[in-house]
Amino acid sequence: MNRYYDKEKLIRNLLMQGNIKIGDIFYYDKVTSTMDVAANLNYDSLKDLTVIISDEQTQGRGRYRRKWYGSGEDCMFSIVLKDYDFTIPYSLIASLGVYKVLSPLSQDLRLKWINDVFWGPKKISGILTEEKNNRTTIGVGVNVNSSKFPSNIINDVTSLYLETGIIYDRINYFVKLIKSIMDYIYIAHRDGVEKLLKLWEKASKMRGVMVRVNTSNGAQSGIVQGINYKTGALIIKDGNKIKELYDGTLSFV
Ligand code: BTN
Repeated sequence: MNRYYDKEKLIRNLLMQGNIKIGDIFYYDKVTSTMDVAANLNYDSLKDLTVIISDEQTQGRGRYRRKWYGSGEDCMFSIVLKDYDFTIPYSLIASLGVYKVLSPLSQDLRLKWINDVFWGPKKISGILTEEKNNRTTIGVGVNVNSSKFPSNIINDVTSLYLETGIIYDRINYFVKLIKSIMDYIYIAHRDGVEKLLKLWEKASKMRGVMVRVNTSNGAQSGIVQGINYKTGALIIKDGNKIKELYDGTLSFV
């Protein structure tokens, strides 16, 4: 677990130029998971908006304890908020931030409820939010320059490099992604989430689509009506019934 102080300084300066007031930034070569580092930071010395970046994770994780694959060629980081509002669906706000950065590269980009970014039929980014130890941590993984993935996910995931054939400057992408996510979080804290969730719904292109969602209370199917502009819940119509879903894994049917 070594720190890259030069990269930390560079990213901090670039974010400051973009009006993002970062508390602390830690850039590591390898950790178990940036989520673990975030959870273990001492609360008293924790500054609001702390960013943890790592080139590699030995136990990178996704939602529902899935493994997150990412290498030193990608962007993996966690944003720690000490001042947060538990009513804000940070996962959706953060995925909108990622979408904004990647969307100039493709017409085929869209958001998939609840917090995935897809390039065509393949996932390019995932977000995991954890609220524990008096902080909210938003973990972001974006496949940037990876050209290889494990065989069990190879058909389901992609990277910017695989889609465009271009190798991207990761430092530039860390800065763009963190800034974009934080700009939306500032808006959410100041003005509420309604406008942002309308943007989210538009970027998901999911209205009218038949979906199946595996929730902790079993599977639900229906036609997407949109999302709740206050909570981010998915609204589906199942026969005559309107249902709001708060969590789960969505698939198209
Ligand atoms: C998902 O798609 O289920 C969420 C994936 C989140 C991955 C990121 S990578 C940085 C941070 N550290 C982790 O262990 N996970 C998140």
